[in-house]
Amino acid sequence: MYGLVNQAVADLAQTLGGAALWDRVREGAGLQGASFVAMEPYDDEVTGRLVAAASQALGIPAEEVLRAFGRHWVLFTAQEGYGALLSAMGSTLPELLTNLDAMHARITFTMPQLRPPSFGCEEVGPTRLLLRYRSHREGLAPMVVGLLDGLGELLGDPVDVVEVREGPAGGTGTGTDVTFVVDHGAAVARVPA
Ligand code: HEM
Repeated sequence: MYGLVNQAVADLAQTLGGAALWDRVREGAGLQGASFVAMEPYDDEVTGRLVAAASQALGIPAEEVLRAFGRHWVLFTAQEGYGALLSAMGSTLPELLTNLDAMHARITFTMPQLRPPSFGCEEVGPTRLLLRYRSHREGLAPMVVGLLDGLGELLGDPVDVVEVREGPAGGTGTGTDVTFVVDHGAAVARVPA
């Protein structure tokens, strides 16, 4: 994945535990002293090692790291100058989710080796959507849940996400094809904390 992703993992580690935690994560991943160039592609394995090392250092499952990472990604990309692109894609959750593929396609102009996921969004009620997530990669569904948390916070439209269906992985036996039910807005606000 592009270095921007690894930079965001570094930023999350630094937010959670300062430079000391980031140093431990880098070391745990066998990447002592490494830094990343945002617009340069790296092997996916590098990101995987960083997530595994963060899970080890924080004593939480990798899925939780990925969820925290997804939430952080929304903040981090805004801070790195991508906020305008995201807000140009819509001002409500259904709009933004419908336009995610178009947004990643725009990013491909500056990151030609991008291998973006694909999303399909279907509104099934005033406060409920079905979101289908497909990727060449495996294991990143928890990141999508975190991304939805982050988008909900950004829009002031809290979400409640449940994974409902895992489809066939594109015939090749690899990749991900997962559907989420996303409740948002009033539906979530009514649920007591
Ligand atoms: C403006 C904000 C965003 C930027 C700049 C951005 C850019 C990127 C980049 C650079 C990657 C790495 C892919 C690669 O290197 O091949 C990526 C992956 C990904 N993006 Fe985005 N993205 C943004 C927002 C979002 C949002 C809002 C979502 C979903 C709600 C999303 C979903 C994903 C997922 C799930 C991946 C992991 C890769 C995979 O599933 O195969 N992104 N994005």
